[in-house]
Amino acid sequence: MARDIWFETVAVAQQRAKRRLPKSVYAALVAASEKGITVADNVEAFSELGFAPHVVGAVEKRELATTVMGQDISLPVIISPTGVQAVHPHGEVAVARAAAARGTAMGLSSFASKPIEDVIAANPKLFFQVYWLGGRDAIAERVERARAAGAVGLIVTTDWTFSHGRDWGSPKIPERMNLATILRLSPQAVTRPGWLWQWGKTLRPPNLQVPNQARKGEPGPPFFAAYGEWMGTPPPTWDDIAWLRELWGGPFMLKGVMRVDDAKRAVDAGVSAISVSNHGGNNLDGTPAAIRALPAVADAVGDQIEVLLDGGIRRGSDVVKALALGARAVMIGRAYLWGLAAAGQPGVENVLDILRAGIDCALMGLGHGSVHDLNADDIVVPPEFARALGVPAAGGV
Ligand SMILES: Cc1cc2nc3c(=O)[nH]c(=O)nc-3n(C[C@H](O)[C@H](O)[C@H](O)COP(=O)(O)O)c2cc1C
Repeated sequence: MARDIWFETVAVAQQRAKRRLPKSVYAALVAASEKGITVADNVEAFSELGFAPHVVGAVEKRELATTVMGQDISLPVIISPTGVQAVHPHGEVAVARAAAARGTAMGLSSFASKPIEDVIAANPKLFFQVYWLGGRDAIAERVERARAAGAVGLIVTTDWTFSHGRDWGSPKIPERMNLATILRLSPQAVTRPGWLWQWGKTLRPPNLQVPNQARKGEPGPPFFAAYGEWMGTPPPTWDDIAWLRELWGGPFMLKGVMRVDDAKRAVDAGVSAISVSNHGGNNLDGTPAAIRALPAVADAVGDQIEVLLDGGIRRGSDVVKALALGARAVMIGRAYLWGLAAAGQPGVENVLDILRAGIDCALMGLGHGSVHDLNADDIVVPPEFARALGVPAAGGV
C-alpha cells in the first residue's frame, strides 16, 4: 500500500476520516444514542481488561484462521453490517473486496447503498442482514432475493428503538439528493475537496436509495420511505424469529443479544449464532458494554451455538480479549468505516491488517499457537467487570 495512505492504528484512520468527510457524514459514523454512555463503555471496557503474558514459550507461527457460520475465515474478525451510504462512492463493494482480499466474510446491511448481487460478486462469503421491516411477506421476498443472489447466511437485527434523543445531534440524512440538497451541503463539502472529488469523478451524488429493500419489479425505495415502513411494522416475536429461521434454513445469526435469557430463547428458536451486541451503542443508552455481557452469555450457550461479539473493537488485542472471554469471533463496525473513509478499499484492508497483526502479537505474548487456545486464564478481569444480564440468581437483572 502506498506509504502516504497507510495508517498504523485505527485511531489514525478515525482522525483521517474526520479530516476527509463532511461534518454531517462523519457525525453519522460516530453517532450513538442519547448521552453516549454505551458507545463509550463499549470501548473503555476493553481497557479494564489486562493480559497475563508468559516470559518464555512463545510459539513461532500462530494460526489465526477459524470458521463463522460455515465460512472459513483467515482471522477471527468479520465485517458487521452498517448502513451508512455516503462515506465512499464504492461503498459496500469496496468493503467486500477488501474483506475478500484479506480472507474474511461480510455482513451486508438492509440499508446498504449497493445491490446485494454486486456485493456478492466481490465477496461470496456474504451474510445478508435483515431488519424487521414490512412484515413476513416483504421479509420473505427480500430473503429469497438474498438466497438467489448467493448469500451464505442471514443476520437478523432486532435491537433498535427509533430513539432520536442524541445529545450530539442525529445524523442529518437528506430526504433526497437533488440540487437543493447539494447546495445546502456544499459549505461543508467544499472544505473536504478529497471527498468531493471522489464523488465528482463518478458524476453521481451519494445514493440515498436502499436497493435491497426493493419489492419485486420496483426500484429501491428512498432511505426515509424504508425507515418509515420499518417504524410502522409491528416488532417481531420469538415465533417470527423461529419462522424466519425455518424459512431460511441455513446459517442464521440473531444480532444484539445482551441477556442470558434471550440467548437461551434464541437457541430454542433454532439460531446457529448470536452476536453479543448493543448495536455499537445505537440502541438503549445505558446498556453495558457488549464485552461485559459476553462471559455469562458464552457460558450459557457457547457449547450450543456460535457466540460472536461486536462493539468497541479497535485493536487486535481487543479481539483476543473477546475470544479469551468466550467469543468465537468478532464483528467490526466503525473501525472499517473509518478505514473506508480514509482510503477506500485499501483503507479497509489496512484496518484488517492492523487487527491481524495485533491478534498475532497478543497470541505470541500469551504463548499460544492458535486463536482456539485462548481462554480465561490469559486475561485479568477486574472483580466488578462482568454483567450477567438476565440471570437473577447470579445477581444480574
Ligand atoms: C454508522 C453505523 C451504521 C450501522 N448500521 C447498521 C445496520 O444497518 N444494521 C445492523 O445490524 N447494524 C448496524 N450498525 C451496527 C454495527 O453492525 C455494529 O453492531 C456496531 O457498529 C459495532 O460497534 P463498533 O462500531 O464499535 O464496532 C451500524 C453501526 C454504525 C456505526
